[in-house]
Amino acid sequence: MSNVENILANPVRETVVPAPRPKITAEGAGVRFGSVTAVEDFTTTIREREFVSIIGPSGCGKSTMLYAIAGFLKTTSGVLKVDGQPIVKPGPDRGIVFQEFVLFPWRTVLRNITLGPEIAGLPRAEAEERARKWIRLTGLGGFEDAYPATLSGGMKQRVAIARALTCEPDILLLDEPFGALDVQTKNYVMKDLQDLWIAASKTILMVTHSVQEATLMADRVLILGARPSRIVADVKIDLPHPRDPADPRLGQYRQEVTRILSAEVDRSMKTERSR
Ligand SMILES: Nc1ncnc2c1ncn2[C@@H]1O[C@H](COP(=O)(O)OP(=O)(O)OP(=O)(O)O)[C@@H](O)[C@H]1O
Ligand SMILES: [Mg+2]
Repeated sequence: MSNVENILANPVRETVVPAPRPKITAEGAGVRFGSVTAVEDFTTTIREREFVSIIGPSGCGKSTMLYAIAGFLKTTSGVLKVDGQPIVKPGPDRGIVFQEFVLFPWRTVLRNITLGPEIAGLPRAEAEERARKWIRLTGLGGFEDAYPATLSGGMKQRVAIARALTCEPDILLLDEPFGALDVQTKNYVMKDLQDLWIAASKTILMVTHSVQEATLMADRVLILGARPSRIVADVKIDLPHPRDPADPRLGQYRQEVTRILSAEVDRSMKTERSR
């Protein structure tokens, strides 16, 4: 059979790649603390393996929304779901790195990281095996027995990330994970996180103040408005990963996000001052 006959006899079937499923769905989700409405309307769908960043003025409810998705606090209006199920409490499917992450100073790197799985009831040997894997993947190999006080800021941050990942969550929730880092260390940890995301295919939701971080890493940037907040823009960063910070197309996205964000920060400042 000639090549042409062969092709005609075996037509290439179109392979249909299924669209990633919705992982987190929010419909009009809101959180009120007494008389303060932190978030008024958070409506979005975050799909499996998406990397979404949330950016917005200080105090607009970014951490609040992340904690609600983690299950640490309840929404007071609307609907918030993971895998189609309403979020009622924290679960092993969601790992979180807090804005002010805490390592236990009396526990070694390894023991800080095994804590989560141990609490979840995993046998110690299995918890250790998982922890060692994430220690390696986050570049902390050799520091298993070190105590937090002997680590640099960037290493502590990586321990916090490894700790969240050791429970092997589908969803990683990050609250300003690079906030405390100097620029050089930040670039390393950011690169680590991008590599991890590509290798481990997690769904990532990252809160940040930095337009540069958001546009460099995320598929979409959700811009929250001034409090009581809602999503004022959902900017798709249509560039392949990993991205080059010097790519001029990235520069255009940075400008667009900065323009929208600056208007919201101005509005937020005016509202705060007139209170
Ligand atoms: N437990 C709480 N009780 C009362 N009010 C709260 C509580 N947590 C947050 N708030 C209020 O909700 C609003 C949003 O806070 P949140 O910490 O979510 O902001 P944020 O966007 O993460 O800010 P930042 O960028 O400064 O971290 C703020 O006005 C804050 O004072
Ligand atoms: Mg916050």
